[in-house]
Amino acid sequence: MSNITEALDERLACLVALEEVAADGVKFTSGAPGPDERKDVNDILLNATKDMLGAKPDLEAFTYGPEQGCETFRKELASFLSQQYGDDVSSSNLMVTAGATQGLHLVLSILSESSAPILVEDPTYFLGLRIFQKDLEREVIPVSADEIGMDLDDLDKKLVSLKRPPKSDSVQDRYWAVIYLMTAFSNPSGLLYSPGKCERLSQLARKHDVLVVVDDVYNLLWYPSSTPSGKPCKAPPRLVSFDKQSDPDYGRGHVISVGTFSKYLAPGIRLGWLEAPDEILSKLYNSGLSNSGGSFNHYMSRLVTKALQSGSVTQHLASVRLQYKNRMDKMCDLLEKHLLEGCSYRKPEGGFYLWLQFPANIDTFEFAQFSAERYGVIFIPGVLASPSEECRNCARLSISAIDEAKIEVGVKELCMAFKDYIMM
Ligand SMILES: Cc1ncc(COP(=O)(O)O)c(C=O)c1O
Repeated sequence: MSNITEALDERLACLVALEEVAADGVKFTSGAPGPDERKDVNDILLNATKDMLGAKPDLEAFTYGPEQGCETFRKELASFLSQQYGDDVSSSNLMVTAGATQGLHLVLSILSESSAPILVEDPTYFLGLRIFQKDLEREVIPVSADEIGMDLDDLDKKLVSLKRPPKSDSVQDRYWAVIYLMTAFSNPSGLLYSPGKCERLSQLARKHDVLVVVDDVYNLLWYPSSTPSGKPCKAPPRLVSFDKQSDPDYGRGHVISVGTFSKYLAPGIRLGWLEAPDEILSKLYNSGLSNSGGSFNHYMSRLVTKALQSGSVTQHLASVRLQYKNRMDKMCDLLEKHLLEGCSYRKPEGGFYLWLQFPANIDTFEFAQFSAERYGVIFIPGVLASPSEECRNCARLSISAIDEAKIEVGVKELCMAFKDYIMM
């Protein structure tokens, strides 16, 4: 195991131990919907189950499903996504997975060379790093990012400087390098890419013939505006919609979108999807892994079909969006009041995460121990999410699983902890 992987494992173990220490305190660490949202999901799935297994039971739900995933579900999902994005999503471009993580792993192992480096935003999704480095033993190349996303000039330079291997004879025609990122409400920094940036990223992927894998797991969690402009709010576009087949330099398709119901309903259902051009997708559902067992989550996809048809998923999303927005507003109002000089953040427009920057000399990994032990407040230290081991002065605060009362206590305690910490 490499030193980087060992260090990440050690830090994660340390974080788990600190979560225990702060068990009765305030945890800003969760990346999943909380107890209030789960109650609503219980009702949605109970009704869907009655519908599916009640008077006229759907016995097909108990079989192996088709490799690409149940067609009825894909059609429902396509219509749901089309409505959410205000864009045409086709069921033939969707494939069922057992969540974003499984989809990501499948894409990397089937579509990219086993030696393909993975270029990531710095900071990035910290558990993704373990998949890349520990499971797949890939080289991870950090690309610097600021508050508007990945530095695309740096990305271009890095891709130019990488040695592209001679074209392999592999029937799969795998990609020689991969870019992994989130363009909407990213984990950990809450970033949102502009359409112009998405356009350029898609062009760069074509120019270098690399695959961009986008973890589109938070896109539908945009915060409704408190000053309605009269225009209907829509989710920010997926990068995959910028890779248009009608473009003269389209090539073979260079973007794949990874989706999941983990953040919109519940992670326990392990239901997700991939969206990609036909040719790319067919390589995935014709893989050995897909052929042995068929759909990666057939039963649950049949069940969620019922929930989508009833409109309850759309309703649930509308309600959680508002809750998350209120929580984030609360957190930012409190930070505004209590945060010390030298600390800064950018208020996100959706999702779960706020990226808090402390003064450059602060090591938030060390501060997290102090804050958990003395104040019972815990967050994700920035270094965990940074393949370059930079971002040592940053912290990821999540609002996904705590109510506004806890946020109030937590932010005040965190700011007090910091005051004490710098006085030491
Ligand atoms: C960026 C990102 N990708 C993937 C996941 C996990 O998704 P899933 O539960 O669908 O595997 C998370 C959860 O925190 C995430 O933040």
